[in-house]
Amino acid sequence: MRERLLEMLAEREGEFVSGEEASRRLGVSRTAVWKQIRRLAEEGYTIEACRNRGYRLAGAPDRLTATGLLSRLGTKAFGRSLHLYDEVGSTQDIAKRLAEEGAPEGTLVIAERQTSGRGRMGRTWLSPKGKGLWMSLVLRPDVPILCTPQLTLLTAAALCRSLRRQTGLDIGIKWPNDLLVDGRKISGILLESSAEEERLRHVVAGIGISVNLEPDDYPPELEAKAVSLRMAAGRPFDRTETAALFLESLEELYNLYREDGFGPIRLLWEAWSVSLGKPAVLKTPGGIVEGVPLGLTEHGALRVRTADGSLTDIFSAEFA
Ligand code: BTN
Repeated sequence: MRERLLEMLAEREGEFVSGEEASRRLGVSRTAVWKQIRRLAEEGYTIEACRNRGYRLAGAPDRLTATGLLSRLGTKAFGRSLHLYDEVGSTQDIAKRLAEEGAPEGTLVIAERQTSGRGRMGRTWLSPKGKGLWMSLVLRPDVPILCTPQLTLLTAAALCRSLRRQTGLDIGIKWPNDLLVDGRKISGILLESSAEEERLRHVVAGIGISVNLEPDDYPPELEAKAVSLRMAAGRPFDRTETAALFLESLEELYNLYREDGFGPIRLLWEAWSVSLGKPAVLKTPGGIVEGVPLGLTEHGALRVRTADGSLTDIFSAEFA
């Protein structure tokens, strides 16, 4: 009944539907119609109720739909096989399972909410309902394992490019793949791969974009560290548009990478990096490295000049 009532309101395109007509067409009492109207309002629909005229749909909640995304998407493969969920533990787990089962490259898993969103280094990832883009993409690049860092940097460059275009915000990349606005994180990327005999079998690229979160959505410990696009720009963004622009950007750079290698990606990443040229302290698995990051190597490592003037290439580390 909920669906039929919604359809009835939507097909009138903003005109009033009387309670009497709704109850007659749905074959339920007017009280039952009123209860459904209240439920829809709780779900985020804006419905005007006018005593003599009935109900009018004035706005729908920002929900991701498969038809909405697929009709907006200009990609060949990325996102074309789409698995959209209301709520999941982590989209990474679903995408990994699909990848193991042979899902084609570009298969996308998106959820409105994650109950156990994962971040890098075993951290959790805040993924409230309907406020962001929580998604995982299956990639099948035919490259050696040692190229995995390049894919991480590629994903960050593609996301930085699409978000800068959509929002006009001055978004920078903190090595290796955090996107920041004024030093606060707006998105995170987590690549998980499966390899066989030194080559990658598949990679699941997990991308979390804090699109429309509001200050109340953040726990106190994240207030100074994280921000959404909406908070940074002072206006909400259409998440379907954000997802489509990102997938288009990623597909384009991924194809460029396959044809021309890492060189062009490296230049893009370096152009938007906020980590280069400034003294830094890096916690690597082998210990602390202090120095000035100069740029990326051809393999995707961060090249750092240390105090004694020597050069060190770092593949994995956290900024202290
Ligand atoms: C980080 O910066 O620590 C990486 C965060 C990655 C979050 C995304 S949201 C979609 C996908 N599913 C997850 O559980 N994690 C990634």
